[in-house]
Amino acid sequence: MYQVLYRKWRPKAFADVVGQPQVTVTLKNELMAGRIAHAYLFTGSRGTGKTTCAKILAKAVNCLHPVDGDPCGECEICRGVDSGSVMDIVEIDAASNNGVDNIRSLREEANFTPAAAKYRVYIIDEVHMLSTGAFNALLKTLEEPPAHVIFILATTEVHKLPATILSRCQRFDFHRIAPEEIASRLTYVTEQEGAHIELQAALLIARLADGALRDALSLLDQCLGRSKDITVEVVNETAGLVGRDHLFELTDAMRESDSSRALELIDQLHNSSKDMARLCEELSSHFRNLMLIKTMKDARGMVVVSDAEYERLTKQALAIPLPAILHGLDTLQTALEKMYRGGNRRIEFEMAMLRLCSPELDSTQEALIRRIEALERGSVRVTPPRAKPVEQKAQATSTGTEPGPEEESETVPLPSEAEVPPERPTRNPAAALPKKEVDMLQEKAERLAEWPEILRVLRDYSRSIASAFNGSTAYVSGGYVLIDAPNEIAFRLLREPAQRDHMRRAIQQVTGRVYNLGPYKPVKTEQAGEDPLKRLAGLAQQEGIEVIQK
Ligand SMILES: Nc1ncnc2c1ncn2[C@@H]1O[C@H](COP(=O)(O)OP(=O)(O)O)[C@@H](O)[C@H]1O
Ligand SMILES: [Mg+2]
Ligand SMILES: [Zn+2]
Repeated sequence: MYQVLYRKWRPKAFADVVGQPQVTVTLKNELMAGRIAHAYLFTGSRGTGKTTCAKILAKAVNCLHPVDGDPCGECEICRGVDSGSVMDIVEIDAASNNGVDNIRSLREEANFTPAAAKYRVYIIDEVHMLSTGAFNALLKTLEEPPAHVIFILATTEVHKLPATILSRCQRFDFHRIAPEEIASRLTYVTEQEGAHIELQAALLIARLADGALRDALSLLDQCLGRSKDITVEVVNETAGLVGRDHLFELTDAMRESDSSRALELIDQLHNSSKDMARLCEELSSHFRNLMLIKTMKDARGMVVVSDAEYERLTKQALAIPLPAILHGLDTLQTALEKMYRGGNRRIEFEMAMLRLCSPELDSTQEALIRRIEALERGSVRVTPPRAKPVEQKAQATSTGTEPGPEEESETVPLPSEAEVPPERPTRNPAAALPKKEVDMLQEKAERLAEWPEILRVLRDYSRSIASAFNGSTAYVSGGYVLIDAPNEIAFRLLREPAQRDHMRRAIQQVTGRVYNLGPYKPVKTEQAGEDPLKRLAGLAQQEGIEVIQK
């Protein structure tokens, strides 16, 4: 009979349990020293080894010839437990035996000495499921435990246990297992099964499993059903990580405010039997990925997708402002909740997408707050050189202009030739100007140490642009890389979208993060009296681009 991998490969000794030394080493030492508690509590997320360790512990306390605190696996007790002939180790699933009567009969039974073993061990799994009455009955036993009884309580939700129970147990916390450790266990198991797995494939499974070795082994099992040579592609296909074009398309529809395209897509997916709640979940994890890429220095480890998809995600993240991503995530989550509360799935999803595609329809408080915040931040879109800058600002403010989808990647105030100061004054903007008047971004700017490396990478994309940046330095501030180049050609080149794209990619390749670009303009001391708003608005007028100013 076929036995699922995670059962077949349940560790039989503490030494085989991976990633939980705080539990296994401690328990082994205590067992070797003969220190045995009457009640243990194993807590932690699922699939991390709680039940496994409970079984090993139950055997270890009874084993006739323990080896360094581990059960020998060979004595009559060890073999008797495995075969089921030794009945002194009792596993109880509290989820289905949660009543006070269950615990009462357990208490009566516990009074009798064990039949074969030294200790009668009760493993109570999912102990948080016990009723209040059952907890009280259990507490009585824990208060005066018979000498030959040991309780091992296991739970994923320790916060649901009464403090009175907690205080009577020796507690062990199980952690999510690190991807590298999961991957190495997967490799071991695969080899024992006479198959092969690529390291990258093992790591991908590990990341998908999110710290749970049981889930990792289940996925490995499915992969082995597909192929004896597990590659990243095999994992991708098995885990359904491919064929997610529709998520990118739906997101693009939102970005382009194309509601009819979104509704068409939903219709197609619905006709091909796609479950709408599932779709909504997938889209919301897609948005989460965009959020991670947008905000983290290196999100690669947390975004579980293929390399090609990661690149695609990065591009999409670049094109959508963070508030829009967060709002999208929020709207989708709300739709999901409504679906699970019984709302019509298709209609809920359509309404959510419609809201995201047409911000003017969105009357939720979040959407309004988002608009107000946009105004307060003062990110103001200024249209090309027509009206006077100050009027433009007022106008944009009163119409409540919100950042458009493409805006974030384009909010790059690049200097015109006239803007670049003829000589190179001090590099420290804070020293050059009174603090309150220093442009917010420049104030927080920190030198970007990886800049030379970035320029080396840039050379592979485009030699000409790389040489234009000879002798330049760069600073990081918030989501911006601010460039200080002695050569004005550099900025002229950067005004071309294709070149800008090269630069962004090079930066991303080295820093692992997507940045917007801007000039680092060391400001001369004489300009100190000038109104920075005027200066920027003037700049915007020349350039026809937006002003971001606090
Ligand atoms: N730390 C671990 N080391 C080795 N295998 C593990 C570990 N955690 C889980 N497993 C594997 O997953 C299966 C289920 O683990 P289990 O101990 O039942 O998890 P839990 O009780 O914490 O939900 C085990 O049979 C084993 O194959
Ligand atoms: Mg368990
Ligand atoms: Zn033994």
